[in-house]
Amino acid sequence: MGNRAAFMTGIRKMELRDVPMPAAKAGEVVVKLEYVGICGSDVHYYEHGRIGDYIVRGDYILGHECAGVVTELGEGVSVLAPGDRVALEPGATCGECEYCKTGRYNLCPDVVFLATPPYHGCFENYIAFPAKLAFKLPDGISTREGALVEPLNVGLEAAKTGGVTLGSSVAILGAGCIGLTALLASKAYGAADVTVVDVIGKRLEKALELGATRVIDASRQDVEKELLAATGGEGADIVMETAGSSRTTQQAPFLVKRGGTIVLVGMAPDDVIPFNFAKLMGQVADLRPIFRYKNLYPTAIKALASGAIDVSGIVTHEFAFDDIAEAFRVNIDDKADVVKIVIKI
Ligand SMILES: NC(=O)c1ccc[n+]([C@@H]2O[C@H](COP(=O)([O-])OP(=O)(O)OC[C@H]3O[C@@H](n4cnc5c(N)ncnc54)[C@H](O)[C@@H]3O)[C@@H](O)[C@H]2O)c1
Ligand SMILES: [Zn+2]
Ligand SMILES: [Zn+2]
Repeated sequence: MGNRAAFMTGIRKMELRDVPMPAAKAGEVVVKLEYVGICGSDVHYYEHGRIGDYIVRGDYILGHECAGVVTELGEGVSVLAPGDRVALEPGATCGECEYCKTGRYNLCPDVVFLATPPYHGCFENYIAFPAKLAFKLPDGISTREGALVEPLNVGLEAAKTGGVTLGSSVAILGAGCIGLTALLASKAYGAADVTVVDVIGKRLEKALELGATRVIDASRQDVEKELLAATGGEGADIVMETAGSSRTTQQAPFLVKRGGTIVLVGMAPDDVIPFNFAKLMGQVADLRPIFRYKNLYPTAIKALASGAIDVSGIVTHEFAFDDIAEAFRVNIDDKADVVKIVIKI
């Protein structure tokens, strides 16, 4: 079989084309992709052609949440073998800068990240990729789950940054894929009480299904009143903003307990958001943004293997590669019905 890739050729335009078969250079493996998830950022590029300063120019391949099977080894690769099933960590960093050398490689200014312009993504059959970013999936973990390791990393990074520990109370604003992985991660880190807030009924149902203690529907309930009532009037130890809206960013200091932590995960469309710093100071709360994740692929895969985390329930829709344009259409037009779409390559 040859190689094909899905090119975004304009706003809401997608076509499959034959592309050359990749070859593994030294230190690389070729992976036959089996599943690639559609991320909110892919949809954003597809609808708007840009995210901030990252602008899609020319025909462009989206996709960065992926897993597949190793088919070829480049020179010097000994830790993997053809036939191994792997999840790919999508960001290749320089390894030389201060951030890389101190383990904070998510801050590397020279990162090459799949589906972040100008670099293409991986909605394609085959990709050549650095072997050190290909993490072997144990028996019993499917490549469909493997494709969800990427967003799970964001949830784990949020829980870790927030200091979620045994007995914590957590409030998660937004129940998209990221809010849901933050829920799974918080539970795995030992949170005793997790409230999930959204405005879409199906997503709130999904949050309950995945173990939320309670949900609040912000379209018809008073979030602050409900959360304070549920937490003895104190608020949550950790508040995670994963909705990416100004409204929820502004709500966070009113939902956090004194001495607690707010983790900013979502990316609001507005650069400047009025924010009540007096309230934040009154709560003596930490405000911690995160950007992607670091050093968490092995942890995420072990958590899946041990059963501490089960990501499979997040997926609501699967489409064949040939139907990828329809998958993006459904993701945009049927938002209330979709939680997470994966493409079977
Ligand atoms: N910091 C990072 O490294 C990082 C990584 C991945 C994604 N993100 C960001 O995280 C955010 C979430 O990603 P996603 O893929 O889950 O997106 P998503 O759009 O699927 O989920 C956002 C959810 O927030 C809900 N929401 C909107 N307004 C709300 C309100 N007022 N109250 C409560 N909920 C509300 C929406 O209904 C939706 O379910 C995005 O902004 C994305 O850009 C950040
Ligand atoms: Zn993503
Ligand atoms: Zn670097």
